[in-house]
Amino acid sequence: MGEGSRPKFSEQSGGKRMNEALQKIGVVGAGTMGRGIAHTLLRHGYSVLLADAAPQFLTQAIRSISAGLARDVEKGRLTEEARQQAQGRIETSPEISLMASASFVIEAVTERFDIKADVLQKLETYCPSDVIFATNTSSISVTRLAAITRRPELFVGLHFFNPVPVMKLVEVVLGAETSPETVEKASQLASALGKTPIRVNDYPGFVSNRLLIPMINEAAYAVMESVAEPRAVDDVMKLGMNHPMGPLELADLIGLDVCLDIMKVLYDGFHDSKYRPCPLLEKMVYAGRLGRKSGRGFYGYPGGKT
Ligand code: CAA
Repeated sequence: MGEGSRPKFSEQSGGKRMNEALQKIGVVGAGTMGRGIAHTLLRHGYSVLLADAAPQFLTQAIRSISAGLARDVEKGRLTEEARQQAQGRIETSPEISLMASASFVIEAVTERFDIKADVLQKLETYCPSDVIFATNTSSISVTRLAAITRRPELFVGLHFFNPVPVMKLVEVVLGAETSPETVEKASQLASALGKTPIRVNDYPGFVSNRLLIPMINEAAYAVMESVAEPRAVDDVMKLGMNHPMGPLELADLIGLDVCLDIMKVLYDGFHDSKYRPCPLLEKMVYAGRLGRKSGRGFYGYPGGKT
């Protein structure tokens, strides 16, 4: 099932070493980012409440989190005892009411305004009014999402990077109404997860995607105009600029549909033609060539999805 067609939450139903007030963290959405965030929280001693309206995503998430924690033991990042404890600190449910006992909630559902808005409205009904809501949005306005809730001062962007357990950055995005206390607590949480929080204001693409996605878009133009084949474009950036992955390999990792959506956010948000999406990127998305997740993007992924 594509993430866009996933079921919605129903209307009805029912870490010891860190900051005491932030122990039980809710994560809504068990896709790539949600499960990466949950894994990282568990690794760092937090208890996690993970909700996703699609039960099969929860099953897959538990499998991938368990594999990640086992890898942590193999690499000496966790003891076997700590792994067993971490494994016992996660609770899952297809019901968003699970979030009622969270002391901090991170929303990581599909990157669509209507889907996030629906989740935030439901969270409002279950969570106490002093609980901070963080969104992992990569491009939707944090200010606009905050305005859906009755707690815009307790609303903040916490933008993690894929693969979450590995990447050091968390962009802490300040909406127009986000309070300094909320920014501080969100930054503390990111630091407690071994990440470096960097504070940015809420403008289209924040800093990360305002720089990264136009680079990917320009790489797609280079291919479209036959300047070079994808492999050559990527090798130029890896060998000449020391990037760990070339822009087109990275586009396949992120998802070409996600890259295109972010380009459109930049184009619409700045009303500037310099952010025009590359027609080749659009064509590939129309063709269902979305990158690793569809088995084919700028490169092929034999054996299917990765
Ligand atoms: N999930 C979890 N862990 C992963 C992983 C994944 N998908 N992919 C790699 N890793 C882990 C590996 O397990 C390994 O960790 P350990 O051995 O310590 O357990 C570590 O990462 C290094 O992996 P490899 O040795 O296999 O490969 P590598 O050295 O080439 O690194 C990489 C892989 C970390 C992905 C590296 O290529 C890289 O940094 N690429 C750039 C990634 C990037 O730019 N991400 C940001 C995307 S943009 C985004 O997320 C935001 C947005 O809004 C669009």
